[in-house]
Amino acid sequence: MFNRRTQPGPGTKGGFFSILLALTIAGLTSQDAQMVRAAYLALELTARFVIVPLSLASLLTGLFSSLGTTWGLFRHYWVLMKLLITTIAIILLLVHLQQISYMAGVAAETTLSITDFRGLRTDLVVKAGLALLALPTATVLSVYKPQGMTPYGRRKQQSNANSEKGKDRGHA
Ligand code: HEM
Repeated sequence: MFNRRTQPGPGTKGGFFSILLALTIAGLTSQDAQMVRAAYLALELTARFVIVPLSLASLLTGLFSSLGTTWGLFRHYWVLMKLLITTIAIILLLVHLQQISYMAGVAAETTLSITDFRGLRTDLVVKAGLALLALPTATVLSVYKPQGMTPYGRRKQQSNANSEKGKDRGHA
């Protein structure tokens, strides 16, 4: 279904995690109370309505790219790694959505000083940074496609080779 030319690039597949990091940093470090409030409100909206849907879309396009091509989903370790990295990033995001909503609620109702909820606000920056790290990792894996087939992939390759030989004999 997807090939090298139609496959969505890293931009569409996930550059969106950088928005999370920028907003969590603004929320943590800004001295301006209005800026802190705006950052957490914007964070909740973008996380919920942009980042979650786009992350799920990147998982879906990844699944199409794998299952719709000869790469397969379980044949190569690099594809499995991408599946794992993307799934973990999505789970992290969904788990932290609750913390993000909580901070947005607090920011909407009170004026936050730089020391309020320091632990939670720092945690959000760290988690957003980790989610962002997933992107270059997934992209490097996609571009270099390191060799290494799973036992299932090797069996599949072998049975394909055997059926090709069978066909050749049939034509002879
Ligand atoms: C945020 C996550 C992801 C990013 C940033 C990403 C990025 C990319 C990029 C840049 C390419 C094109 C590489 C090239 O030029 O050959 C690609 C291809 C590919 N991706 Fe992803 N990807 C992600 C998630 C996934 C997932 C979850 C899967 C599998 C479940 C997947 C499976 C594949 C496959 C099989 C190809 C090769 C398609 C082909 O060459 O026909 N990707 N990805």
